[in-house]
Amino acid sequence: MKAKSIRAVAAALTLSVAATLTWDAKAGSELVTFPETYAEGVRYAVVNRGNLREEIFTSRAAIDAVKQGHPIPSGTVITLVDYRDGALYRYVVMEKRTGWGADYPPEKRNGEWEFQAFNADKSVNTNETLDRCFSCHKPRERQDFVHTFDQMKSAR
Ligand code: HEC
Repeated sequence: MKAKSIRAVAAALTLSVAATLTWDAKAGSELVTFPETYAEGVRYAVVNRGNLREEIFTSRAAIDAVKQGHPIPSGTVITLVDYRDGALYRYVVMEKRTGWGADYPPEKRNGEWEFQAFNADKSVNTNETLDRCFSCHKPRERQDFVHTFDQMKSAR
């Protein structure tokens, strides 16, 4: 093979690897769809901070697991409804399923959780940098990456 065609093959390979990586990154958060039934779960935490109000929901099964010291079960969705100045602003959602997250490097991975941000109209917020979610929840590894873990424990 001539040097030129080797370079062409190498370039094509590089492109296809790059395309695969990009697709993987998208496939992660796209697993999380809008949780239409979130309000049927338990509203276990409310945060008021300045003009911001957050109402946080999850399933009864997740609350029970945390209370009993068990891992949060596969299939758990946690929905944070974010209000600003009393108006619905957006939703941020994390969802955990067996096997999720396995393709992430350890320094990014949050166990089996995936993250997604939705606009007030429930569409995906495509402008959100989801790496921020991972990096800010990562330090809570000892409580399964959930900041409001203690509120789950004390939920009724
Ligand atoms: C700057 C740090 C930070 C970033 C970035 C961040 N979070 Fe959080 N998240 C928090 C904190 C702190 C809480 C606890 C509630 C509070 O104090 O506002 C929280 C709570 C949550 C909750 C409720 C469960 C829990 O962990 O308490 C969900 C769901 C959530 N965040 C999803 C997301 C998603 C999705 C993104 C990215 C779009 C994201 N977060 C980005 C810090 C962050």
